[in-house]
Amino acid sequence: MTRTAILGLGHHVPDKVVTNDDLAKMFDTSDEWIQQRTGIKERRYIDKNGTGPSDLAVPAVQMACRNAGVDVSEIDAIIFATLSPDFTFPGSGVFLGDKLGLAGVPALDIRNQCSGFLYGLRVADAWIRCGMYKRIALVGGEVHSTGIDFSDEGRDVTVLFGDGAACAILGPTDEEARGVIDVEIHADGSGAKELWLEAPASAYIPRITHEMIDNRSVWPSMNGRQVFRWATAKMPEVSQSVLERNGVSVDELALVVPHQANKRINELVGQKLGVPPEKVVHNIEKYGNTTAASIPLALSEAIQEGRAKKGDLILMPAFGSGFTWGAALVRL
Ligand code: UT7
Repeated sequence: MTRTAILGLGHHVPDKVVTNDDLAKMFDTSDEWIQQRTGIKERRYIDKNGTGPSDLAVPAVQMACRNAGVDVSEIDAIIFATLSPDFTFPGSGVFLGDKLGLAGVPALDIRNQCSGFLYGLRVADAWIRCGMYKRIALVGGEVHSTGIDFSDEGRDVTVLFGDGAACAILGPTDEEARGVIDVEIHADGSGAKELWLEAPASAYIPRITHEMIDNRSVWPSMNGRQVFRWATAKMPEVSQSVLERNGVSVDELALVVPHQANKRINELVGQKLGVPPEKVVHNIEKYGNTTAASIPLALSEAIQEGRAKKGDLILMPAFGSGFTWGAALVRL
């Protein structure tokens, strides 16, 4: 039976490093608070006007193609997961396709925030297994730094997020012991307003007003404690579900590559699953939360550093705004 293999991964982050101390010069926060509560030391921001997620994605796709042994021109579908598209419309996927010279290649944007990579993987897996496409570029890319509130009021959200992009090139394989084994995804919109960006909104007449800017509804807002509670409940739950359905024990996992929202969340998820800490991948200290990019970015780095290799069994859980959550089990 045809399976979907991750043929290669790539990532790209902008050069500009922003430390916790840099943020503490702009609003009331501290390196100590941020590190203690989140594990983040620094993050990357774009520093050139006009750099969108699709721009960050170009080198990520090129790197993923090199690692996959695939020419960029062979990509036959793009799935672009982002909550911070270059523009309101059209989606980042079409801009990326144009920048890669892929005229005519379909481009699907998906809006599933921190679970975006898993939602995209589920769609891509179905497309590949049914024979529809053979070389899918599944991209997660975000530019958060132009859309967060650098004032005391926004500090809880602003310290968390960073810019970056990553890509997985997916294609069919007949190798028994390789590929996407399972992807389980969920959503519960009763939590939609616990982490959201309210305005501009198509639902309001007019969709943008001076008042919205003044009352700060143009910046993301979050009920951090509630999101933390849900994340530490749902990520282990969905992970267990995937492992049990596939008869896989945690001892068989080479690595857990969770979404990077908070180091404390991922330590708790590891503990609840009974996975030793050295098997849980963290790179949040360098990049903060890059949302849809975070899982492929962490996996790409783990492979680059020799921590993950062909044949390894990897579990990838995520939780985020929506609420949306899920977990994927993949053999590299
Ligand atoms: O990608 C998925 C979505 N995001 C997440 O998964 C995030 C989930 N939530 C979290 O990671 C945590 O809730 C945070 C890291 C956001 C916050 O940590 P916390 O331990 O839940 O802190 P808190 O919100 O309960 O705030 C504790 C204190 C408050 O002050 P008081 O009321 O105790 O005086 C906050 O005002 O920390 C204050 N605070 C800050 N202080 C310095 C909040 N943000 C900051 C800040 N710097 N950036």
